[in-house]
Amino acid sequence: MNTVTENIQLEFDMFAEAERLFSELEATSTSTIGITREAYGAGEQKAIEVFEAYALKYDLETSFDGAGNLVIVLPGIDRNAPCIACGSHLDSVPQGGNFDGAAGIVAGIISLARMRHESFAPACDLKVMAFRCEESAWFGKPYIGSCALLGKLSQDDLEARQRDGKETLAEAMERCGADLDRILAAESLVDPKSIAAYLEMHIEQGPVMIARDLPTAVVTGIRGAIRHRKITCLGRAGHSGAVPRWLRQDAFFATAELISALDEHWRVLLERGLDIVVTSGIVKTNAAVHAMTRIPDEITFSLEIRSQSTDALEAFYHLMETECNNIAKERKVSFQFDRKLYTAPARMNERWIERLKDISERLSMTSELIPSGAGHDAAVFANAGIPTAMIFIRNENGSHNPEESMEIEDFIKGTEILYHAFKEPL
Ligand code: GLV
Ligand code: MN
Ligand code: MN
Repeated sequence: MNTVTENIQLEFDMFAEAERLFSELEATSTSTIGITREAYGAGEQKAIEVFEAYALKYDLETSFDGAGNLVIVLPGIDRNAPCIACGSHLDSVPQGGNFDGAAGIVAGIISLARMRHESFAPACDLKVMAFRCEESAWFGKPYIGSCALLGKLSQDDLEARQRDGKETLAEAMERCGADLDRILAAESLVDPKSIAAYLEMHIEQGPVMIARDLPTAVVTGIRGAIRHRKITCLGRAGHSGAVPRWLRQDAFFATAELISALDEHWRVLLERGLDIVVTSGIVKTNAAVHAMTRIPDEITFSLEIRSQSTDALEAFYHLMETECNNIAKERKVSFQFDRKLYTAPARMNERWIERLKDISERLSMTSELIPSGAGHDAAVFANAGIPTAMIFIRNENGSHNPEESMEIEDFIKGTEILYHAFKEPL
C-alpha cells in the first residue's frame, strides 16, 4: 500500500459517516410522507437506537439522564472538570423533515467519533445530549427534554396530554424511564456549573441563509413565544339561509375578524420596528356537526406569537385580548382560552459568539450573525445561565414540512466549526 492510499484510509470520512447516519435516521420515520419521530414514541426511540449503536461503534460512553435523554460522552482527562456539551433534539413534527434536530446530534456525535479515530483525549468530558420532545407539536410545550433536565417543568406541564389526547406527559416520561419525582420537584438533574458551555448546531428553518448564500452562520438569539394550543370561539348554530346577518352569532366570522385584526396590528408593529411573528396553525369547525348549511357555533384554533422581546410578546397578547373582547360584544360570541404557554426569548453568549466567528473565519467559512426565528433547546440552557451558542446551517424549502433539504457539504462545514469549538473551548 502506498502512503497516499494509506492516508486516505486513515482519514475519517465525515461526509460518508454523515450520509450513512442520515439515511439510517430517515428509516426511523413512522410516516410515509415526510419524517415523523413522535416524542416519547416509536420514531424517537428508533432514533435513539441509531445514535446509541453509532456511539458504541466508536467506543463512546452512552447513558440516559434522569429525564430519559440520551447522553454520549468522549471522556476527558479530568473527568471532574465542567464538560463542554452540544446537542439537539431527537423528535420531529408530524410529517416534518429529516434534519430539524437530528442534524445537531449527528454533527456532535460525528465530531466525537472523529476525535476517537484521531486518538484525541480532550481536557474535559465532551458530551452530546440528544433530547426528547423539543417540538411543541406533541404536548403543547416546547423543549421538554431539556426543561426536564434543568428542573423547568411544572405540574401543569406534566399534566398536558399528547396531541392524540391519550397519554399525559408524566405518563409518557415515566414510561421512558424518567425520574418523575425529581422532575415534579423541579429539581435540576444536572448541576448547571458542571456544563462549561452548551453548543447547538441546527439547520436554519427560514429562507434567509439561502437568499444570502450563507452555508453557515452564527446565531445571536432565539425568539420566545406565547401560545395557546386551543382557543374556542362560541357562537350560536343556525340555518345558513334563514338567519339574517344582524341576528347571526357566527363563530367562524368572529374568528376570521380576530385573525384579520391581529394581522393588521402585526403589520403596524413591524413598521415600528418590533420583532413579531404570528401563526394560527390549527383551525377547526366541529366535524361531527359542521355542514355547508349550518352557521358554525364553535371554532377552535391555536395561536402562537413569537418575538425576541418579552415586552413585544406581552404587548401583542394584550392587543389580542382587547380584540377578543370587542369582537365578542359586537358579534355576540365568546372566546375561551386554554392554558397560556410562555417560552422566554434567549440571548446567546457573547464570548462564544466571537469564538464561533473566529473559528469560522479561520476555516474560511461564512460567519455572519443571524437571529433564530425558531426555538431550540439552546434557549433553555442560555436561560439557565449556561454559556450557550449556536451554529446555523443553510437549508432549503424551510422546515416543519417534508421538503426540508440540507446539502451534506454545508452540514460538513458546520460540523467542522463544531468540531473545532469542541476541541478548542474558551
Ligand atoms: C421548534 O422547531 C419550533 O417550533 O421553533
Ligand atoms: Mn422543529
Ligand atoms: Mn429543531
